[in-house]
Formats: sequence, C-alpha cells, structure tokens
Amino acid sequence: MNGPNLNMLGTREPAIYGHRTLNDIAAACEAKAAAVGLAVDFRQSNDEAEIIGWIQEAGGSDGVDGIVINPASFTHTSLAIADALRMQDCPVIELHLSNIFAREAFRHHSWVSPAATGMICGFGGGGYVLAVEAMANLLNGEKAE
Ligand code: DQA
Repeated sequence: MNGPNLNMLGTREPAIYGHRTLNDIAAACEAKAAAVGLAVDFRQSNDEAEIIGWIQEAGGSDGVDGIVINPASFTHTSLAIADALRMQDCPVIELHLSNIFAREAFRHHSWVSPAATGMICGFGGGGYVLAVEAMANLLNGEKAE
C-alpha cells in the first residue's frame, strides 16, 4: 500500500525519491514476489480514509498474509492508520524510499513504526524488493528461529 503523492514517483523530487515510477516499482515487486512464491496486490491512494479501508479489509476473511505499507506523509500525521494496522495480526512492514531520519526533523517521528513488525528506509525503490523478501522470510517463520 502506498500513500499520497507516491503516484508521482519518477517526476516527484527525483533527487530524493529517484527516477523510477510507481509502476516500475510494482513490476519489480511482482517479479520478486513470484521468485519467493508470493502474490502482490499493489495499491496507491492519496486518500487516508481509503487506505484505512484497505487495511481493515486486509485483516478480514478474504485478507492477506502480510502488509507492506509506505504511508508517505501520513507516516508523520496519522494515528488512524497506525490504529488500523495495530488491529491486524499479520506482519506489517513500514517502508520509505528515503531515509526519513536523515531528513527534516518533522519526518523523524513515525506514528506507524510502533504498529509495524519492522521498517525499511533509505534504499530507494529497491527497498520495496527488500520488503517482499523480508515478508517472505517472516511468513516462513524466520523471526522465530
Ligand atoms: C516517504 C517519506 C515521507 O516523509 C514523505 O512524506 C513521503 C515519502 C518515502 O518514501 O521516503 O511522501 O514515505
């Protein structure tokens, strides 16, 4: 799940977020997922309520095995997204293209991190592929080893 303004990747502040579009990143995730035996449902919304709805559905009976979320700016503002994630039993990976801790102070706080299993940031679009691999490892019980 991808939050606001991530649909603009490719042209959005490329010095920070790189030149890959969200479609490029989705294709890389799908390729990695196929290699590790997972399927990806890749989504983006600029609407906080829509993202909360997706998280709630993800925990339902037709739900998913895990959530990878780049909440974008909602990371720093949305207790509601954090609360929705906290309701889910599945692993949750928080993801950012940029290293939010090396940027402005207002990006250093994440409401989402305490509700996440783990967090990946600072690896650009490649972080999404790392997240798919990390999710596969979590689902295979790596954390319990
Ligand atoms: C971001 C970092 C956030 O601080 C920012 O608001 C974004 C993108 C990232 O992927 O680096 O929109 O989540």
